[in-house]
Amino acid sequence: MAESMQGLKRSHRCTEVGAAHIGQKVTVMGWVQKSRNKGGIIFVDLRDRSGILQIIFEESDCGTESFAKAEKLHSEFVIAVTGRVEARAGSDNKDVVNKNLATGAIEVRAESLRILSESDTLPFPIEENSRTREEVRLKYRYLDLRRPDIQRNLILRSRIAILTRQFLADEGFLEIETPTLIKSTPEGARDYLVPSRVHPGSFYALPQSPQIFKQLLMCSGYDRYFQLARCYRDEDLRADRQPEFTQIDMELSFVDVDDVLDVNERLMAKLFKELLDVEIPLPIPRMTWQEAMDRYGSDKPDLRFGMELNDVSDVVRNCEFIVFKNALEQGGTVRGINAKGQGGMPRKKIDALVEFAKGYGAKGLAYVAIQQDNTRKSSFAKFMTEEQMDALISAMGGETGDLLLFAADQKKVVWDVLGNLRLELARQLGLLKKDDFRFLWVTEFPLLEYSEEQGRFVAMHHPFTMPMEEDWALIDTDPGAVRAKAYDIVLNGTELGGGSVRIHQNDIQSKMFEVLGFTPEQAQEQFGFLLTAFRYGVPPHAGLAYGLDRVAMLMGGCENIREVIAFPKVKDASCLMCEAPSPVEDKQLEELGIEVSEGQLRS
Ligand code: AMO
Ligand code: AMP
Repeated sequence: MAESMQGLKRSHRCTEVGAAHIGQKVTVMGWVQKSRNKGGIIFVDLRDRSGILQIIFEESDCGTESFAKAEKLHSEFVIAVTGRVEARAGSDNKDVVNKNLATGAIEVRAESLRILSESDTLPFPIEENSRTREEVRLKYRYLDLRRPDIQRNLILRSRIAILTRQFLADEGFLEIETPTLIKSTPEGARDYLVPSRVHPGSFYALPQSPQIFKQLLMCSGYDRYFQLARCYRDEDLRADRQPEFTQIDMELSFVDVDDVLDVNERLMAKLFKELLDVEIPLPIPRMTWQEAMDRYGSDKPDLRFGMELNDVSDVVRNCEFIVFKNALEQGGTVRGINAKGQGGMPRKKIDALVEFAKGYGAKGLAYVAIQQDNTRKSSFAKFMTEEQMDALISAMGGETGDLLLFAADQKKVVWDVLGNLRLELARQLGLLKKDDFRFLWVTEFPLLEYSEEQGRFVAMHHPFTMPMEEDWALIDTDPGAVRAKAYDIVLNGTELGGGSVRIHQNDIQSKMFEVLGFTPEQAQEQFGFLLTAFRYGVPPHAGLAYGLDRVAMLMGGCENIREVIAFPKVKDASCLMCEAPSPVEDKQLEELGIEVSEGQLRS
């Protein structure tokens, strides 16, 4: 039977009650974590979002009626207790003081109890580090969200959002909302579409980002804008991707790259200091995209460990190893990494690394394992002279006990293979410390990248990104070599955010569209309102957006973005709890003028 809370007012959250309140009367409300009946005395662990408080029921204190109710308590009943705070029985006896609880030195001796609601038996226990399968937890997400670790994540996320707002407001930013039923944005992923009833056959797109709108706000003179913006991208999900996610999105007028980087690194430093008490040394180091690729094989290098890539093409150019020879003859490259101290790695484990590399497009992985007695085990020594091998090892900084791994292929493949191998080795060797935060700005991204699939250049960031002035002359002759005023903020191998200086000159923008293969008509059709707006006085502007979810994930030390999102979606973009997406009534479809073809329906 559920009682009302009429006449009662909660005085404290569970862990707000402390030693300072000993002797005082308090009223606490929450969920029964655990109830133990020791015959004549009942101990209840009461839980709310702040933590756990121990309540003691004895008939002589709380009366017959409340005691009878206390005897009926089960896990997850919602109760209200009024009682007196006391030091834990015999708290001079160290054993009874529970150091694991914030409220470990006190307890509340109940004087009255109300059962506000009862609970069925739960499908899984509410506990830290749940061992329940994630599918089950997500189906009952509202229960999963009661778990202390998830609550800590969402509390952290809330604090990140609130601090970000405060910081940006103090820096002169205005919070402005932009629409979420829009025309499609050019961010490159697939759009989620929303059919229009009023305009049958026409669709809104949900924004992949507020990109165009924030640029228009700059046109309108708002100067500094930010928004915690919901974004939607229909792309394959990964551990750090969701179909809907939140950006900390910003745009600034009359600025260049340095201004954007400056305000953003101060934002990061503030979040880390205030929320984690971690000092981020400023300025955050910067590295060009080219350097990041050459040294780490990645545009989001994890700087918590070394194991950098080494270009040994010149060293092996004259050897007879056909794998190296062929790659070099075809304009490729030979590069390696040195896994320090791993020369004793068993053959089986090395073979597993070769398979791992193949998963990233390698045709193989050549290795030299330098043994403790300085003999070498190698997959290709027989094709090399002693001198060539010595030179190669020396170029790699190879010493007794090291394992050298080489990939030979086109540069892009080699980067990808060794970049990922480096990370895999770091994982295996336990080099990735969660509380070591290594920020990096990656700058000077290529403006364009060639899409084999589309047979044309596409924008690496988006079509509004400003080329670097010194490279612009190459736009017709060597478009792939033009660098952009684009930057990413990277933390421990994750891209936290990215942005760019935007094009504000019509001639450069028209040229960009031309290079991207848009006819003037197509550009007009897609972005006409932006191009028109830019005819009426547009300030130079630049911006950046973070994935808020990713910021929270890294700050919370989580493995998956789902752990910092209240109601996340799973790999196939469905919600296991509310079972979206779902078929709709024929009537709804009729109104929208939509027919679903039988072939599209899955049984
Ligand atoms: P970009 O596409 O790089 O830039 O996105 C910015 C940041 O958003 C986060 N992010 C995601 N987070 C979770 N799930 C996803 N599916 C997902 N996709 C992106 C990442 C990423 O760094 N309009 C530009 C920004 C600008 O130029 O100002 C933009 O959206 O953390
Ligand atoms: P094979 O002659 O094909 O047996 O290859 C000899 C060694 O070279 C094996 O260890 C292969 O894994 C390795 N290998 C093959 N292709 C490549 C490549 N593209 N880059 C680096 N090593 C390779």
